[in-house]
Amino acid sequence: MPAGRIRIVEVGPRDGLQNEARFVPTEVKIAFVDALSECGFEEIEVSSFVSPKWVPQLADAAEVFAGIRRKPGVVYMALVPNQAGLERAQRARADKVAVFTAASETFSRRNTNASIAETLERFRPVVANAGRPVRGYVSTAFHCPFEGPIAPVQVLPVAQALLDLGCAELSIGDTIGTATPEEVQRLFGQLLDICPADRLAAHFHDTYGNAVTNARTAARLGIATFDSSAGGIGGCPYAPGAPGNVATEALLAAFPGLTAIDPTRLAKAAGVLTQYLSTQSGAG
Ligand code: HMG
Ligand code: MG
Repeated sequence: MPAGRIRIVEVGPRDGLQNEARFVPTEVKIAFVDALSECGFEEIEVSSFVSPKWVPQLADAAEVFAGIRRKPGVVYMALVPNQAGLERAQRARADKVAVFTAASETFSRRNTNASIAETLERFRPVVANAGRPVRGYVSTAFHCPFEGPIAPVQVLPVAQALLDLGCAELSIGDTIGTATPEEVQRLFGQLLDICPADRLAAHFHDTYGNAVTNARTAARLGIATFDSSAGGIGGCPYAPGAPGNVATEALLAAFPGLTAIDPTRLAKAAGVLTQYLSTQSGAG
């Protein structure tokens, strides 16, 4: 990627839709991803192959993958928690998979029914057998909804363990959107000692309006990959109070001319979803 460019990973179809109170119909999800494919994203997180008992909103991940029109050059990613998830993602021909753990033990347990160490053991065969690049998410890297502030010293070993397993990229999550720019500076400064900038992504949710400033702070340190959701939808159903991801539109505005995203097409893609959601709220 040329110097100064910002790469945005659109996570709305997964992180956004997993938190919708109502099940968004499969055909709406497919139309949303297809519209996002026209926007210029290199990478779109399409869905997750987690337990449908835990996240029923995305139980149709296989149908969504089967229904989308794949644009050449776009990487279609899926979140997976274990070997069963990997196998489903492989059958769906996901181009890339993402495993997820946390820097907080309590959150790890609430989100995956496993300790951090247990999640890492689950990932060992997943990363080894993936046959495609693997992203590793570290959630609650700044604050945990159950444990409060999380220090970099808790994050670094988890990040290192994911790298040691063979993850190609790490995405560092401010899951409940409460990180401050100072905390971002401190954590990414230390992560850069163990991982090159081009293998790090920042995943900011947005509670207090700090996400864009946090992204600018990370960018000043050389981080060039940011996760976001069209329209700022999203959150984690197992993190109480988790707000939406930083809006993709807000990142385009923060980094004018530095991304490959077409804002008009993005508005159209976001419209696919907002139009559906507004008809639903209208219907009560
Ligand atoms: P468990 O209940 O401990 O596991 O859940 P289990 O092995 O006992 O499985 C329970 C049932 O689910 C079984 O079915 C399994 O077969 C099935 P049953 O026998 O009862 O009929 N199952 C599966 N089915 C389909 N696909 C699978 C799968 N795995 C098991 N892959 C588990 C453990 C990890 C599965 C569960 O806790 C889980 O799925 N958690 C996912 C929670 C989640 O998706 N959270 C949101 C994503 S993370 C996030 O949003 C944060 C992020 O955005 C970054 C940030 O913001 O920080 C990434
Ligand atoms: Mg998230």
